[in-house]
Amino acid sequence: MALAQTQTRLQVRPLNPALGAEVRGVDMSKPMDPATFKELHDAWMQYLVIVFPEQHVTDEQHVAFTRNFGEPEIFHQSIIKSKRVREIFRVSNVDDEGKLMPPDHPTVRQLSAAQYWHTDSSYRTIPCTGALLHGVEVSRTGGETEFTNMYLVYEALPEKLKRQVEGRKARHDFDYLSVYTGQTLKPMTPEERAAVPPVWQPMVRIHPVTERKSLYISPIYNDEVEGMSPEAGKRFIAELAEFAGQPQFVYRHRWETDDVLMWDNRCTMHQVTAFDPRERRVMHRTTVVGDAPVIAA
Ligand code: OGA
Ligand code: MN
Repeated sequence: MALAQTQTRLQVRPLNPALGAEVRGVDMSKPMDPATFKELHDAWMQYLVIVFPEQHVTDEQHVAFTRNFGEPEIFHQSIIKSKRVREIFRVSNVDDEGKLMPPDHPTVRQLSAAQYWHTDSSYRTIPCTGALLHGVEVSRTGGETEFTNMYLVYEALPEKLKRQVEGRKARHDFDYLSVYTGQTLKPMTPEERAAVPPVWQPMVRIHPVTERKSLYISPIYNDEVEGMSPEAGKRFIAELAEFAGQPQFVYRHRWETDDVLMWDNRCTMHQVTAFDPRERRVMHRTTVVGDAPVIAA
């Protein structure tokens, strides 16, 4: 009898009926062979959020692993971006020198926008595909990250809302953050502003790999909806965000040190729960450059 040729390289454990799976059998500090990559990518497309436990990686290893999935994005602002490794986006209330920043520090204020539903870099003409977040110093007082499956959200939309989003665009403007959060943020320099002009994205998109439709909104950036007054557009986005945040669509992750989470920004939103600002929370993110404009459904 011939020996079985299929060897399971990865252990994949679903975490929630809506989305999320834990994957063991990957060492992010090492190169990945093509067969393992394929297996991992398939799991990612199926579960949308992958949790890699116990990945004690350096920033350089984190960036190198990210390159399996594409080119890392470089953030357009000087704040938040790591001074040491430019591909690293620091979701952190601790500065590059290791000092805890107060809650009214511009960086901390800006990062507090992550406490509302959003998908990353939707304000770019070509938004990212995914992001990988490494829990370097994790919170014990909150700071859990919630993800929502936007395929399921789209499919479950009441007919009236579905008709309203079909064929419609929403505007995504990075500069809307301060209005949305009601926070005074560090103004962008003219160069930073020029790098991220407002863009219109379809509200229903087709995933280039799975070819499934999902609702595509990013409430922290959505300042306008096509064919609606600014006020009506904001109410509409708020209604959709509330619908998307229902528990049947959401996985909530409680972080352990050295968890790395990889999510697909094309078909999920996320938000972080509040935590005690006196507690250090250091999370390092890489983001994968998208390869084509968003495809409308
Ligand atoms: C992000 C983000 C949430 C968190 O890194 O894009 O929104 O839990 N982070 O820190
Ligand atoms: Mn985010």
